[in-house]
Amino acid sequence: MPRLDSKVALITGASEGLGRELALAFAAEGASVVLAARSAAKLEAFAAELKDAGHRALPVVCDVGDSAQVEAAVAATIAAFGRIDVLINNAAVAIPGDITDQTEEDWMRLLNINLLGVFRGIKFALPHMLEQGSGSIINMASIQGDRSWNHWTTYAAAKGAMKAMTRQLAGQYGKSGVRFNCISPGAMDTPMNRERRKREGDAFYESNKRMHALGRMGRPDEVNGAAIFLASDESSFVTGTDLVVDGGLSVLPRE
Ligand SMILES: NC(=O)c1ccc[n+]([C@@H]2O[C@H](COP(=O)([O-])OP(=O)(O)OC[C@H]3O[C@@H](n4cnc5c(N)ncnc54)[C@H](O)[C@@H]3O)[C@@H](O)[C@H]2O)c1
Repeated sequence: MPRLDSKVALITGASEGLGRELALAFAAEGASVVLAARSAAKLEAFAAELKDAGHRALPVVCDVGDSAQVEAAVAATIAAFGRIDVLINNAAVAIPGDITDQTEEDWMRLLNINLLGVFRGIKFALPHMLEQGSGSIINMASIQGDRSWNHWTTYAAAKGAMKAMTRQLAGQYGKSGVRFNCISPGAMDTPMNRERRKREGDAFYESNKRMHALGRMGRPDEVNGAAIFLASDESSFVTGTDLVVDGGLSVLPRE
């Protein structure tokens, strides 16, 4: 029996990277997937690919930086499938910068997507989950919320706040049947990091590999197992946790 049979999952940032892999894996486990991201063309092509393979998929253009678009994405989910069982707040941007050079606008630009985007997803999906008496909200955090890297204060601040927010909500809404958890990946070989490789060169990839006890970066599909677990009824007694999927990055000393 598929592990996500009859579940409806809304995944933000589903056109590329981890979000795309999650959508493929969730669909293969029987979920109806709502693909939310900014590019209509990419989403429609991806939804067609999933439908051709016999899955249920709905593309929804949604910039998580815009409240009305997030509200509309949740409404489209309910209109199409009548419920929402899983929300994966996955969309994010990676913008480095030294704190002494950054402006308030730099901070607000990142926080608006990486942190307020999460607030918006939860704000609009949670009422439906409360009405259903069940739901699983999965926030894609990062091991950067716990460890230090030079130049990444804003990104780390958003991920750290996301973890605190997840624990707060898990406590507040536990009795409702809605669960809140995070996943903290290590460095994954996604477009986000391929962009950094273009900017920072191959040395970036080599140092990223060495950071992990497993001696390599993560493949984009290597958070799927954690997310399927947290989305499924197998994790029915798991809330307020941060599932670390970091190839042993956090057990090694910093170089
Ligand atoms: N790649 C890593 O090493 C890594 C490590 C830890 C955590 N993460 C987290 O995992 C998640 C996915 O990362 P990724 O590496 O797949 O990134 P990615 O850049 O490869 O993909 C991000 C996705 O989010 C979308 N997106 C960006 N801004 C958006 C917006 N305003 N509205 C809607 N969609 C938007 C992009 O279009 C894309 O589909 C992010 O939350 C990221 O912070 C990634």
